[in-house]
Amino acid sequence: MTGRDMSISAEERYLIEETLRIAEARTTHMVPEVMDNPIAKYTDPKQYEAEVNTLFRNFPIIIGHVSDLAEPGDFITHDHFGVPILVTHAQDGNVRAFLNVCRHRGAKLTKEPCGKARTISCPYHAWTYSLDGKLRGIPQAFGFDGVDKSKRGLVELPVFNRFGLIWVVPSVQDHTIDIDTWLQPMAEQMTGLDMSNQHVYRKWTLEKKMSWRFLLEAFQESYHFCYAHRDTACAGYLDNQSVQINFDPHVRHAVPLPKVLDLRDQNPDTWDYRSNFMTQNYIFPANFVQVMTDHIYIHTIIPTGIDTCVFQCMMLINEVPQTEKAERYFQKNYDLIRQVFEEDFEIGEGIQAGLHSGANTGFIFGTYECGLHFGQKAIDAALAGKIRV
Ligand code: FES
Ligand SMILES: [Fe+2]
Repeated sequence: MTGRDMSISAEERYLIEETLRIAEARTTHMVPEVMDNPIAKYTDPKQYEAEVNTLFRNFPIIIGHVSDLAEPGDFITHDHFGVPILVTHAQDGNVRAFLNVCRHRGAKLTKEPCGKARTISCPYHAWTYSLDGKLRGIPQAFGFDGVDKSKRGLVELPVFNRFGLIWVVPSVQDHTIDIDTWLQPMAEQMTGLDMSNQHVYRKWTLEKKMSWRFLLEAFQESYHFCYAHRDTACAGYLDNQSVQINFDPHVRHAVPLPKVLDLRDQNPDTWDYRSNFMTQNYIFPANFVQVMTDHIYIHTIIPTGIDTCVFQCMMLINEVPQTEKAERYFQKNYDLIRQVFEEDFEIGEGIQAGLHSGANTGFIFGTYECGLHFGQKAIDAALAGKIRV
């Protein structure tokens, strides 16, 4: 990091101290008991329906970076929720999200993944909307006498730009979403990352043949690193030495680099956090901000069926690479993460393939697979109406 104040937060100091403590004690960070998670959590269609209708309708999900909507006229669309979404940056400077559905007879307004426009015109009968959602024009309007145009604007969804990321709540809400209170436990760290000013180096979307839960779980523990990622991620980190802070429902999961152990001999006032950890920040229900020492991956997992999901990822770097060396460096990191994620996908698709084999009535979460415990409990609480934004 350049130009950064080296002082660390109390939270980061705790993460370093806890990492050093467990290393010294030759143990790892754990919850008290093993958990047997019933297989129905992954197979029951009612469970799946409840997850979609609650987790993927009423909670903020990251769908882009602020640079996707940098100028008035910019728009993006999103289709994976099963609810077509249009997000615009209107001439008045505001970012808004709408259902991408015409108010005449429901046609999809635009199929473009992104674009620039002054107005959006429906392909069916050309009803035209401005980017603030107002219905501006009806061709041959004499056939719609008495229709109040002001009541036929696009239907708005909650959308937020926080930490440089675009978060959308994919259904109409009857109350105001208090996004700042929701994100507060992560705010100090996220603000420090300055993601608004970063460059989206790569962006990709993959469709996978597995429950979204298996992909989620791949990011909630580091026990698998030295097995599933034996030749890739394993060497980069201390084996199974993560420390997790449960903000219920969000979780900060700190995975130490081997060199963190050198901090034992250094004055704590000189400790740096970011250069010594990979941090997997889980922001409920399916958002991850994965902070590497000098770049960031933002990933979101969205279910598209009980046994399928979509993985969307952005790689953020501080600036457009200025030299060939920098370009090569980030390309190498990108290639590596694609490989590491692919290793996770292969495992997840394998779990899905054997899910109905009868081998397991439940999956066992070990005591150091802390994030799995926290994650399942949070999902259960949200489905019971105990967690709301
Ligand atoms: S459905 Fe859009 S103009 Fe008719
Ligand atoms: Fe993994």
